[in-house]
Amino acid sequence: MPTISRELQRARAYAQSTGAHVQGGDRAAFHVCAPVGWINDPNGFSLYGGKIHLFFQHHPYDWHWGPMHWGHVTTEDFVRWQLLPEALAPDRAYESGCFSGSAVTWRGRHALIYTSHLDRPGPDGIRQILEQQSLALGDGVDYEKVPEDPILRTEALPEGACARDFRDPRVWEEDGRYRMIVASRRADGLGSYLIYESEDLRGWRFVTELLHSDGHRLGKMWECPDWFPLDGSRVLLLSAQEMEADDEGFHGLNGTAALVGGWEKATETFTPGPPRPIDYGWDFYAPQTVLTADGRRVMIAWMQSWDDDVTPPEQRWAGMMTFPRELRVRGGRLYQAPVRELERYHADSVTVRSVAEKEGRRLTSGRQLDFTLTVEDAAAAVFSLDVAAGGAYRTRLTYDAPAGRLTVDRTHAGMPGDRYPVQIVPLVSVPERAELRAVMDRGSLELFLNGGEQAVSVLIWTDPACGDVILSADAPLRYTFVCHRIEVGEDA
Ligand code: FRU
Repeated sequence: MPTISRELQRARAYAQSTGAHVQGGDRAAFHVCAPVGWINDPNGFSLYGGKIHLFFQHHPYDWHWGPMHWGHVTTEDFVRWQLLPEALAPDRAYESGCFSGSAVTWRGRHALIYTSHLDRPGPDGIRQILEQQSLALGDGVDYEKVPEDPILRTEALPEGACARDFRDPRVWEEDGRYRMIVASRRADGLGSYLIYESEDLRGWRFVTELLHSDGHRLGKMWECPDWFPLDGSRVLLLSAQEMEADDEGFHGLNGTAALVGGWEKATETFTPGPPRPIDYGWDFYAPQTVLTADGRRVMIAWMQSWDDDVTPPEQRWAGMMTFPRELRVRGGRLYQAPVRELERYHADSVTVRSVAEKEGRRLTSGRQLDFTLTVEDAAAAVFSLDVAAGGAYRTRLTYDAPAGRLTVDRTHAGMPGDRYPVQIVPLVSVPERAELRAVMDRGSLELFLNGGEQAVSVLIWTDPACGDVILSADAPLRYTFVCHRIEVGEDA
């Protein structure tokens, strides 16, 4: 039996007793939410014991960020999630937080590889910050940290790399070995991703620096990498701090980029294509993927922003994940689609074929929806769709083909203190037949444009009573609107 530390016992007991009061009500119906307290990055997204496991950065005791634990949920269909006991608590002398990481299988056991983050005054009273990687082994419920921890220490960093910024190990199996990609900061202050290799998850050899930041559009410190083969390419998912905004859809500050390229193992060389935002909304960070039993690469991310916390102040929990998305590479680009399991929860499906006009038309009403709007002759069209609308409230999506952009405006969503209410999304393509799919849950809107060529994630904490979806167009426009309500039952 694993030993459960005092810190972990306390977190488990607290989450159980307090979590019961926080459940229900204002929570999302089919997105992973904080059970109690605060959550950020997804961690350890993996397949183990026939289930998908998802862990997350968790501070159970407050709805603001604090000493990081790992919360834990599992699912069999990405829609209904079961809450498990807290998996990790910071309970070792070398850690004041269990930062982000990943999970693999090790000789039949579930192995969590995470960052032991230390931020404490040292023996001389001076603040000490140090990041090293640690390992915990478990059975899918209880996990025990190994005696060799931390298993990857700052001594293993390349010359000049900063010992304070060495985090978020992403481990996978390749050719009978384990490989890790992990974030680091070079002597010149720029973020980089390093590759290490191991036979047993305990001893690690430095292989190479995969890539480092340009210091501008790709920001300064890098975090939370993911790195995998897909459709004949190699995909790097990157999360970065202090990015510079540009006209290609990078909104600056904390953001993400996908680099699709080629990988030559013999020379350990990555030849990346141009960086593109993974998601054009503010509320998307630290994505991580899992390979499902049927071979799909599925991505989940934290659906919130470090720069613009719009959590309603009266809400006693903070943070949720995106809906999981299937990834594909086509023409060197990453495409995203909500996992197909969502279709099992479709109810009350309707199809409307009509003509949109200046005078807005209410298409439906609801806040748990999966709808697709297809507009014909759209290459020069301008139309707008209000969602979560009612009374003075709305979130307005304006598709402007001549200007080549989609604007998502939540100025009137009823979220005082929203620092970045307007998101301008430059359209990658302006097809004759425009397609806009939306997955909405209480509190969120995820858009998939033109077959998943672009995705946009936004939180909208508008009063749940506001659910109208209203379409209007500058000039008459033929459209088809297919809409399903999402019904998941009570205890999802
Ligand atoms: C990214 C991040 C990670 C870190 C974690 C701490 O959102 O800053 O780099 O491991 O959050 O909660």
